[in-house]
Amino acid sequence: MFEQMKGAIFDLDGVIVDTAKYHYLAWRSLAEELGFEFTEEDNERLKGVSRMESLNILLEIGRIDASDEERERMAASKNERYVEFISRLHESELLPGVRAYLTDLRSRGVKIALGSASKNAEFILSKLNIRGLFDAVVDGNQVVNAKPDPEVFLIACRKLGLEPAECVVFEDAAAGVQAAIAAGMGVVGIGRADLLPGADKVVSGVDELIA
Ligand code: BG6
Ligand code: MG
Repeated sequence: MFEQMKGAIFDLDGVIVDTAKYHYLAWRSLAEELGFEFTEEDNERLKGVSRMESLNILLEIGRIDASDEERERMAASKNERYVEFISRLHESELLPGVRAYLTDLRSRGVKIALGSASKNAEFILSKLNIRGLFDAVVDGNQVVNAKPDPEVFLIACRKLGLEPAECVVFEDAAAGVQAAIAAGMGVVGIGRADLLPGADKVVSGVDELIA
């Protein structure tokens, strides 16, 4: 898989940076305001899931009914809280090995793209000071169908000027692994093998990939 790799497509949240804790704090504060408790275990269900779908799950947990308009308002309010946290993000929060691995791939001529569901991806990359390492960025603003649909990875691959079989995806969410498989790409799971069925290889973090 790695021998033929001409393009590497990285998920953002959970692969490059641990933003899950900030998503959690923002959702928890919204839940508190709505009068129910939202646990870290509940938060696991939101990993890799789009903002609106995350809100739908949150409201289901709190057994709260809301109109589409109210949902839009709640999602926007959660995002305001989230952006406040990530505006303090610092380069030191890059997950171990990320800068070294991306730099190494580039030096070997491998093209690099981001394939994320987040609409805050560009902001996060600039905060982490790694935007320059990416040849293409595809995020939640450019995609209609969320993972496990392969759309985000297919657009990224096209932007790199490559074929799906030449790309390898790096993903921490089960839905993302499924999206990569549906796209016809190799996939490296980041996390626990039992939670990432179908991945060609699973490592605990990007640092394990450095030769
Ligand atoms: C994914 C995260 O990368 O992006 C999800 O894993 C998140 O937890 C989703 O809900 C959308 O992010 P944002 O920044 O657009 O709210
Ligand atoms: Mg992720």
